[in-house]
Amino acid sequence: MERENWTSKFGFILAASGSAIGLGNIWRFPYITGTNGGAAFLLIYITAIILIGYPVLISEMAIGRKTARNPIGAFKKLAPDTPWWLVGALGVLSGFVILSYYSVVAGWGMSYAVKSIGGFADGTDFAALFGSHISSTFSPIFWHAAFMFLTVAVIGAGIVNGIQKVVKVLMPMLFLITFLLIFRSLTLEGALKGLIFYLKPDLSAVNLQTFVDAISQAFFTLSLGMGAIITYGSYLSENDNINESAGYVMFFDTAVAFLAGFAIFPAVFALGFDPAAGPGLTFITLPAVFAKMPLGALFSFLFFILLTIAALTSSISMLEVVVAFLVDEYGWNRKKASYFMGFLIFFVGLPPLLGYSSFSNFRFLGMDVLDTYDWFSNVIFLPTGGLLTAIFVGYYWGSTNAVEEANKNSSFKIGKSYRFLIKYIVPAAIIIIITLSLINSI
Ligand code: PFF
Repeated sequence: MERENWTSKFGFILAASGSAIGLGNIWRFPYITGTNGGAAFLLIYITAIILIGYPVLISEMAIGRKTARNPIGAFKKLAPDTPWWLVGALGVLSGFVILSYYSVVAGWGMSYAVKSIGGFADGTDFAALFGSHISSTFSPIFWHAAFMFLTVAVIGAGIVNGIQKVVKVLMPMLFLITFLLIFRSLTLEGALKGLIFYLKPDLSAVNLQTFVDAISQAFFTLSLGMGAIITYGSYLSENDNINESAGYVMFFDTAVAFLAGFAIFPAVFALGFDPAAGPGLTFITLPAVFAKMPLGALFSFLFFILLTIAALTSSISMLEVVVAFLVDEYGWNRKKASYFMGFLIFFVGLPPLLGYSSFSNFRFLGMDVLDTYDWFSNVIFLPTGGLLTAIFVGYYWGSTNAVEEANKNSSFKIGKSYRFLIKYIVPAAIIIIITLSLINSI
């Protein structure tokens, strides 16, 4: 079968932006910004996105388009008879692991969207509600399965009829809901306190860990280091331009992360709450905020739909990595590969799901199963994948080849600075963050 191509330039940009914009933007970014020095963090983060994220984003797109293969096939094609294909294999493994727990969390989001419809009674103990939701079994398993099913259905339908069609509808919805939530949040009395918490520059909160957090977040949020962008890039045609597309993806991803903070903190502070981290902020603080807000049920529903949409347009990119591998390398039928892998990944997601009930005794470095999966992905898999990709491009395939591929049809040309960044700055920065994160966790 002929390999599909995105049918429009914007199809690819939306799909790759959809991959980038996910749970990372909505529940991780606003909180780390608020607690890591506000505008000072933002500046460091944007620097990391431009100096480290952008070159790797371009590299992955170039590898993808040049080879028109899944990550394993791509490395095999550019470096035949060498162990470089293992970098692709690490990517496929990461896709597998990240998707398994990502779907569990997305499932919580879906179930909260449904719970929101009836509205939450003021005075509900939201910490207890969340605790009882995640430590039950039937409901989280049902929603995890439902979310995996949606992911499988999109990927099974193909690149143009599945991914591209879905992101063309969901991404505008995502932007629209974000703006509605911002409007609601900013028009509450006392909203300013939230903005001050979010953005007030605080240099005293900046230390070495701030840089580590900024760089790790840049990687996760741009979906780098696991071949998702290689895979999406493999459906690019010669007419598409890589440098500009990567610029759009970087811009949209940063914009949504930044804007999510405007939707969240003004409301949290206006209604008298303290911000919490990650799942606590999303599933405990925010429902409490919505419960107190005029038209709260509607905005709560919208927020959890936003979370689900953001998660879905990311999860499909993870499943696509794994499915493209079976389709390209073993000639599997796309539908069959999607269902088979979706099923398998569903099972791999059960341990993190049950980590709050049956497996609650499990501890690794003090973390529960879900945090353990997340730690391996964020601290080991993605940075290692990104590091090896940069080394591959800088020293094996050659930055000249990458530049040539990336510049085809691009009116914005890359050259010297890209080569310098990919050969020296990106590898050095990643080695430093892996080392520091390991020292910190152990
Ligand atoms: N970029 C997504 C987020 O910010 O939530 C997560 C992600 C998606 C990571 C796809 C890796 C990936 F391949």
